[in-house]
Amino acid sequence: MPRLPGQNPVTRRRAIYSLGGVVLAAGLGYAGGCALAKGGKGSQTYPQAPVMPADAKVHKQTLTAIRRSRQLAAPPAPPTDILGYSDGPTIIRLQQGEWLEAAFTNRLHEHSTIHWHGIRLPNAMDGVPYLTQAPVMPGESFTYRFQPPDTGTFFFHPHCSTVEQLGHGLAGILIVEGDEVRPHDHDLVCVYRDWRIDKDGKYQPLMTDAGASKAGTFGDHRTINDQVQPVFKVPAGGDVRVRFLNVDMSRVVDLGIVGADAWVIATDGNPLPPQKLKSWRLGPAMRADLTLRMPHVAGTRIQLVNYYSAQPIVMAELEAEGTPLDRPAFVPAALKPASIPEPQIDGAETFQLRLSASSAPADLPPDLVLPDGSVLRYADALCLSPKTFWALNGQPWPSASHEVLPPPLVTFQRGKTYIVEIINQTPHIHPIHLHGHTFKVIGSSKGDVVPHWADTTIVAPKERVKVAFVADNPGDWMIHCHIIEHQETGMMGIYRVA
Ligand code: C2O
Ligand code: CU
Repeated sequence: MPRLPGQNPVTRRRAIYSLGGVVLAAGLGYAGGCALAKGGKGSQTYPQAPVMPADAKVHKQTLTAIRRSRQLAAPPAPPTDILGYSDGPTIIRLQQGEWLEAAFTNRLHEHSTIHWHGIRLPNAMDGVPYLTQAPVMPGESFTYRFQPPDTGTFFFHPHCSTVEQLGHGLAGILIVEGDEVRPHDHDLVCVYRDWRIDKDGKYQPLMTDAGASKAGTFGDHRTINDQVQPVFKVPAGGDVRVRFLNVDMSRVVDLGIVGADAWVIATDGNPLPPQKLKSWRLGPAMRADLTLRMPHVAGTRIQLVNYYSAQPIVMAELEAEGTPLDRPAFVPAALKPASIPEPQIDGAETFQLRLSASSAPADLPPDLVLPDGSVLRYADALCLSPKTFWALNGQPWPSASHEVLPPPLVTFQRGKTYIVEIINQTPHIHPIHLHGHTFKVIGSSKGDVVPHWADTTIVAPKERVKVAFVADNPGDWMIHCHIIEHQETGMMGIYRVA
């Protein structure tokens, strides 16, 4: 029976973390030495928060991580305990140019932070505990302030004990508006995830060795916006923008639409010249925005389908409703182009990132004997899975935990273009995510790719994928697989821009 972070008043993990970083910084020698220079964080200076100008247009938002319950399984099953930032789905909508001031309070019984996935923000606001900020302890608060530079469809989630916290539902959606040239009649957010619950609404194990060492552990309760196969009413004959987000921890979706033509107009929130949709692959954390024209006859339904399955699975339906809107013939309109610095591919340096399995655990720090004689074991730490299955460039994250930071895998020179060639040496798919930068996917060993901006890209077994970006955002940033079980069992590292 997996632990729900809102449930356990006192846990071993909490006891460890309330000791704070001083002990860690003072007491532990991580093999390799340099790790603790930035690792322990006892006297660590975290990066400086950006200063919000006095005349900034500010969108204020309260985000309280709290335990709730929601009816997920069909009645008579009782509601399921979940974690959330608010009641109902949390969707923040900003206008481009606005600052977000998000006052986060942690009402869980273990620490947490908020990572703003895909936003090119200052390092101090990236929400990675021990790397960019101190963990926000139970009862504590932390205010995030930043101005998202790009429009699009993003999400946010915790970055430690992620299997537990995200697995119980802790995530929210952030939409930055201002990219449409021609407005849609309806803007529909579709958040895909499965829940690892049985028909009685009880959790099954969120993480298993079999899953973590292979494709991930799956739930069978597949939902859009927490509902199984919901039907959304949208204007008949109207133009609809579907913002599809895969926030599942391990499922891959091959997104399709049945019953209407649709075009992909954004990937991971970033504008893309309209591409006719056949099937679009989205690993965990990936997003696609679609544009389509609804049928004219009220009552007609079209289906949002997942083809990544033996039989296509209908995830949700859109039903045309009302007097049909009278619109000129449909031509998919492109969004305003992105203002992300264009990589200069010619002469750019290539960094190879190899994804591999690792049977050997990373250098585990020794147990620490505390002044009262008790023993602090790393294997008990919050972000840690004691198992290690995966590595980046042969290096598993040390003890799969956040509080002991490994040296960066690579240091990029600020302002230069880099090509990262991601080489998958495993028999499994990995959606690889870089924090701090939006990259352009420029090539694959498996054939042509539509060049597109992304923050997460899926790399198939034996595939090599090339992405390029201008390293213009200084700081230490995470790079990891977004199958959360892979991330927490080694497939995670740091890259530095200096
Ligand atoms: Cu959404 Cu480090 O990830
Ligand atoms: Cu992976």
